[in-house]
Amino acid sequence: MRGLILSGGKGTRLRPLTYTGAKQLVPVANKPILWYGIEAMVASGIHDIGIIISPETGDQVRALTGDGERFGARIRYILQEEPLGLAHAVQIARPFLRDGNFAMYLGDNLIQTGLETLVHRFESAQPEALILLKRVANPTAFGVAELDAQGRVQRLVEKPKQPPSDLALVGVYLFSHLVHKAIDAIRPSARGELEITDAIQQLIAMGSRVESVELTGWWLDTGKKDDLLEANRIILDERTHCPMAGTLDSGSKISGRVCIGSGTRLVRSTVRGPVTIGDDCQIEDTYIGPYTSIAGGVQLKNVDIEHSVVMEGTRISDAGRIVDSLIGQRTVIARHTGKPEAHRFLLGDDSLIEL
Ligand code: TTP
Repeated sequence: MRGLILSGGKGTRLRPLTYTGAKQLVPVANKPILWYGIEAMVASGIHDIGIIISPETGDQVRALTGDGERFGARIRYILQEEPLGLAHAVQIARPFLRDGNFAMYLGDNLIQTGLETLVHRFESAQPEALILLKRVANPTAFGVAELDAQGRVQRLVEKPKQPPSDLALVGVYLFSHLVHKAIDAIRPSARGELEITDAIQQLIAMGSRVESVELTGWWLDTGKKDDLLEANRIILDERTHCPMAGTLDSGSKISGRVCIGSGTRLVRSTVRGPVTIGDDCQIEDTYIGPYTSIAGGVQLKNVDIEHSVVMEGTRISDAGRIVDSLIGQRTVIARHTGKPEAHRFLLGDDSLIEL
């Protein structure tokens, strides 16, 4: 079975970060979100993986992720010129998928359990599609499935006003080659996209068997800031492997599960885990509280930070207390020595500052 991971799209909900980078490369516990999906595929025995990329961010995805060797996989990149929908991504990947069964994974989704059970179930039951569902409190915000008594999917509705169930579609699907026939038969939706829900509905209309598995562990769609911070919190909580390389002076203290990368120095600082700090960071007179990920090359001086993600090369000094924040690469936050009552900004479009 081959794998298809979708790492194109617009990422409008994660602006301004997505003006300059792919949302699938935003780090969660200092690892790009996309890599969790690749690792899940490899762990379930899928080694031939196609990754859908966009013209805007494809080069970054390719440069960082490589040919798959580091994951024990073979990765092929498939350019989608425009984000014309999840089913469109499948359509352009057809030559790579070679009319075989495949697993599809949305590159900004994270699920707790691996894909092994799903793949096994698909191979033994041999339906035309197997979808993953999760009970949610607010089904009106999702694609929702209606099942029959045997658990077969009867109907899928996108963001229904009157949800037929509380079972939302999670971003992981398994398909046989018949899905290509279904995609050929559908038309773009009102928002101009070829929808994967319409393709699955079409499969049902063609008389195909569409089965589902209910996910009991967590599922996170990291498309927005707060979801991303929640993913960071959960992964930091569950991660067991934690390298401790950097150096601390006698005035520094760490407690709980704290990973510190090589070349990182802590001076008169306190870190309370779960926290991960990358390589070559300089941390001085700083408190880093639970659920924080600090990427490589970051400098923090006289900062109090908690429940946040700080990306590479950022410098923060004398900034007071920072919480619930997602801070992009090479950002500088510093106290100006001039008029104390004035703030000074150089912000990209769609930035968010809460003072
Ligand atoms: P979405 O999060 O639904 O779409 P998006 O990335 O355009 O984000 P936003 O709604 O914030 O504008 O996409 C789910 C995943 O699928 C995500 O990893 C991007 C990817 N994708 C593609 O690769 N091609 C596409 O045509 C679309 C719509 C999404």
